[in-house]
Amino acid sequence: MRTSIQTLQQKKGNTPIVMITAYDAPLAALVDQAVDAILVGDSLGMVVQGQESTLPVTLDEMVYHTRLAGRGSKTAFLAADLPFMSYQVSVEQALRSAGRLVQEGGAQAVKLEGGVEYVPHVRALVRCGIPVVGHLGLTPQSIHVFGGYGKRAKEEAEAKKLREDARALEEAGLALLVLENIPHELAREVTALLQIPTIGIGAGPHCDGQVQVLHDLLGLFPEFRPRHAVRYLEGGKAIREAVETYAAEVRSGRMLSR
Ligand code: KIV
Repeated sequence: MRTSIQTLQQKKGNTPIVMITAYDAPLAALVDQAVDAILVGDSLGMVVQGQESTLPVTLDEMVYHTRLAGRGSKTAFLAADLPFMSYQVSVEQALRSAGRLVQEGGAQAVKLEGGVEYVPHVRALVRCGIPVVGHLGLTPQSIHVFGGYGKRAKEEAEAKKLREDARALEEAGLALLVLENIPHELAREVTALLQIPTIGIGAGPHCDGQVQVLHDLLGLFPEFRPRHAVRYLEGGKAIREAVETYAAEVRSGRMLSR
């Protein structure tokens, strides 16, 4: 039985929520027991597909990877990102796209980026029985507007808009809110302002939970370390060394003799 959205929401003020990304069955199976929630993030565009941003990721790809992560995991809550241009056009488009992530991918919730302008989308999705996770602060689908992946809402005008967006989304029925790369104090304020849990990434320790990109946590890109990423394993180095050992054994004839 998977963790429900109610179980996650009841953690607010009690126990921090642990969320991590996963995009395929074997890694989802490995993280499943340790976390409360798996996010099939459109960050897969960068960490799985080798793209420069999340923008090229398609809805078909998100459905496919959500199905894989769902197949590997058994107990973690499963949320999936609505990719760029799969919900921005209209409420109807958001419903159709989210419907695919739930029906074909097996997601329990969908995540979308953006504020008050998506209140109608959130209302309609919730009305159809689809829990929605919001995402404010550094929203990577707006990278061309921001011009970089730096901290957002450092100035009061943007911080004020973020508070208003958070309130409006909660009022519309949002289930959880991801806060990415914003000042710690603002994350603390928004967390106190809302009844629903906030999940931080690069937003400090005051959120109701944390989310990290699994590939960052495992150090699968040894030369790339985002400032907010926490690395618990030098996985990239370990993989290189393992494959070098294998190659050396084959070349020396030792492997063939087993
Ligand atoms: O795409 C993603 O993995 C995300 C998380 C970093 C929150 O949106």
